[in-house]
Amino acid sequence: MLFLMILLFAYLQMSQQIQKTMVNSKEMLSNPRLKPVQGTLNVVMNQNVTLSCNSDSGSPPVRYTLFKHNQKVSTLNRPDLTPSLFNLTINSASDLGEYKCKAENNNTSGGKYSNSLSFTLLEPISKPVLSSPTSQAKKGQNVTLSCLSENGSLPITYIFFKGIQSISSQVMMQKEAAEIVLFINSSSDFGTYKCRAENGFRRNAKYSNAFNFTLAEKFKCTRPSTGFTSTPNVEEPEDEVIYSEIVPVKPEEEYVNFSVLRREDEKDKRVCATVYSSVLSRD
Ligand SMILES: *[C@@H]1O[C@H](CO)[C@@H](O)[C@H](O)[C@H]1NC(C)=O
Ligand SMILES: *[C@@H]1O[C@H](CO)[C@@H](O)[C@H](O)[C@H]1NC(C)=O
Ligand SMILES: *[C@@H]1O[C@H](CO)[C@@H](O)[C@H](O)[C@H]1NC(C)=O
Ligand SMILES: *[C@@H]1O[C@H](CO)[C@@H](O)[C@H](O)[C@H]1NC(C)=O
Ligand SMILES: *[C@@H]1O[C@H](CO)[C@@H](O)[C@H](O)[C@H]1NC(C)=O
Ligand SMILES: *[C@@H]1O[C@H](CO)[C@@H](O)[C@H](O)[C@H]1NC(C)=O
Ligand SMILES: *[C@@H]1O[C@H](CO)[C@@H](O)[C@H](O)[C@H]1NC(C)=O
Repeated sequence: MLFLMILLFAYLQMSQQIQKTMVNSKEMLSNPRLKPVQGTLNVVMNQNVTLSCNSDSGSPPVRYTLFKHNQKVSTLNRPDLTPSLFNLTINSASDLGEYKCKAENNNTSGGKYSNSLSFTLLEPISKPVLSSPTSQAKKGQNVTLSCLSENGSLPITYIFFKGIQSISSQVMMQKEAAEIVLFINSSSDFGTYKCRAENGFRRNAKYSNAFNFTLAEKFKCTRPSTGFTSTPNVEEPEDEVIYSEIVPVKPEEEYVNFSVLRREDEKDKRVCATVYSSVLSRD
């Protein structure tokens, strides 16, 4: 009997305690959470954003106040614990923040403050410029292509194309230009190059100007083939000089014909030959 009475007393004590703590936790507001409704803190100029502020526990009604740089922006009253939504327009650098909110009810003296947050302004990317220090190239040469967007939030991701085919992996750069080195190996390497740049500003990749390498024209096949009376200057070391047929014209004079072969491109299989005639002096 006595045991049962002790048990009953203990139970009453305990339930009272539980009730007391429950009332307490209902009355006192928890620190509110401030977060962007759109899920990201990245914004662009003139964008409308919504910040949500709410305490998870405490007894309503709750008054929420939004602060920007510790200055009151606006106040909203909520009859329940659902989040209060503050609508803002980002018009200037100061609108980026820092923001905080305060939750108040009649049981929380001084109110409870939230985390603080600031927005990051994203700048759209400008059309990248594709360039090379050497616009003329010849077979067997390494050439550099650079791609740079002058404006746009960093980092910027670049990729290079020949025609519509990508010829590089994506390279993420800060302020500097992305560069690739190409080995000019065949006439197909003289195609049209482009690059593409993008940053975290939504999905707005931009393509550069088209860039073509021109073949470093070392010769023309239009030199006159007659009129030379002496050995022509063979400027280009790659040119082959082939001496051929010694043609006796007059007994005292002989001519030697020689061809200068100039290979432009193996793929083109184009060989230009200029035939020169020269007086051969026999001493
Ligand atoms: C942003 O909100 C303002 C009113 O607060 C409205 O006039 C404007 O059209 C909105 N802009 C956008 C991009 O939704
Ligand atoms: C903010 O905008 C949302 C809709 O985007 C609207 O439901 C809410 O009432 C607005 N809040 C204020 C304080 O104007
Ligand atoms: C506190 O209670 C008074 C009257 O009951 C009410 O007018 C006031 O809005 C309440 N304050 C808060 C922060 O809810
Ligand atoms: C071109 O670059 C490759 C790789 O960097 C190098 O091995 C090669 O020697 C270079 N060729 C010339 C002609 O510079
Ligand atoms: C980059 O921004 C500057 C300053 O806003 C502007 O003057 C310039 O024209 C921009 N460049 C490009 C390529 O858009
Ligand atoms: C150059 O082209 C030849 C034939 O197309 C190929 O076998 C070789 O690997 C290429 N060399 C380079 C460095 O790309
Ligand atoms: C680049 O070369 C391609 C053919 O190889 C040609 O169709 C295109 O017009 C050229 N572009 C420029 C800008 O010279």
